[in-house]
Amino acid sequence: MEITKINYDKFTPVIPNGLLLYIETYGCQMNTNDTEVIISIMKQHGYTYTTELAKANVILINTCSIRDNAEQRIWGRLGEFSHNKKADKRTVIGIVGCMAERLKEELIERRQLVDLVVGPDSYRSLPELIKKIQKGKKGTKGVDVQLSRDETYDDITPVRLDDNGLSAYISIMRGCNNMCSYCVVPYTRGIERSRNPHTIIAEAKDVFEKGYKEVNILGQNVNSFSWKEEGSEDMDFPTLISKIAEISPLLRVRFSTSHPKDISDKLIETIVAHDNICNAIHLPAQSGSSRMLDIMNRKYNREWYLERIAKIYELIPDCSITTDIIAGFCTETEEDHKDTLSLMESVGYDFAYMFIYSERPGTKAARTMKDDVPAEVKSRRLTEIIKLQSTLSHKSNKLDVGKTFKVLVEGVSKRSEEHMTGHSGQNKVVVFEHENICKVGDYVDVLIDSCTPATLIGKIIK
Ligand code: 5AD
Ligand code: SF4
Repeated sequence: MEITKINYDKFTPVIPNGLLLYIETYGCQMNTNDTEVIISIMKQHGYTYTTELAKANVILINTCSIRDNAEQRIWGRLGEFSHNKKADKRTVIGIVGCMAERLKEELIERRQLVDLVVGPDSYRSLPELIKKIQKGKKGTKGVDVQLSRDETYDDITPVRLDDNGLSAYISIMRGCNNMCSYCVVPYTRGIERSRNPHTIIAEAKDVFEKGYKEVNILGQNVNSFSWKEEGSEDMDFPTLISKIAEISPLLRVRFSTSHPKDISDKLIETIVAHDNICNAIHLPAQSGSSRMLDIMNRKYNREWYLERIAKIYELIPDCSITTDIIAGFCTETEEDHKDTLSLMESVGYDFAYMFIYSERPGTKAARTMKDDVPAEVKSRRLTEIIKLQSTLSHKSNKLDVGKTFKVLVEGVSKRSEEHMTGHSGQNKVVVFEHENICKVGDYVDVLIDSCTPATLIGKIIK
């Protein structure tokens, strides 16, 4: 009898044609979390996520519109994806997220760079639209940029990306109602809506049970989280975060962003009441000048902001406070700029995200104000802001020398095998000699003996 040899190489598992998804993410952490939701939706429809662009059948870019330079990078990247389309005409290329909503006509009709444009509230329609494009005549497009009043994806468990298995991000709300005059977010992500807290708490419990040690609670303005349900008490953000902290003392809880107009004594007291809610508050000031804050429509002034900071330091003396600052918003004078620098010094920020004002079409500032600060003045002011922040960060780190911090061990230091690295509750990077007595995922107490502007260095206390 003749034996036929089977070549098993031919039978390596093949993912069904058309079902390999590649996705790139730009912008903030909330966008990364949206990407995790998208992958989860696509998986439910048989897709497999790949990090290999060349193999993908569907290529998505999850985009950010907050500043013009973010959008410019994405236009460049889209140009590069056209090579994939040339290699295989059936490849579907799509834009999702904030730029989708803002630029659908330009993307689809004028530039003809993409097949698919889907806004932040329409991710559930992605599989259907992709099918329509793949099955339709050449040139079929898929578009859904409808914003929603109630979509929160609360039933979707995000697929965790970039996974160190320690830290998970959980979005608790979508959209923004604040209408800061420079900001495009309320237009691209729609009105604010809170997610059902039962699903948030269930998700936090689930990640803790899977071994995660930290949850990062995300929202444009977490302080306005609000949930009303017949038959039970209304839930606000401090109550929600207490419930998450009560899942386990071993679960660290972080949150961002807090709008200064809404940061309540109740929230500060909630942080004090729970050891595992980190002593770190991101409280974007944007400017230190009350005149600028008024035209930015921030709904607080310098005095209010400084009073809130005083309250935080009174109740949580070791609280880390971080901020966002915009340099060169419309009509900003040298005096306004100096007010920003002096506010930064008064607060003594631990860290700051610092930006040059970038006019965004459709915002109140673009419609009614002149972008009148010359580019070189904006840039010089930003440089001064960055320089000051670097001094403040170093100063804050020097004040930590001699103190002990609880650190979540995250990995071996890149510089030395004898050192491990992690974050303190204040969200500072801490490097320490591991002495072979700790492993990734442990909490250790580290006594700080030196520092650089960006890092605390110390030894484990046994
Ligand atoms: N130009 C520059 N920075 C901006 N931000 C928001 N809109 C703009 C803009 N048009 C910054 C703010 C905000 C952060 C997320 O991005 O500082 O807090
Ligand atoms: Fe934009 Fe202001 Fe909303 Fe933040 S709070 S997303 S800056 S509108």
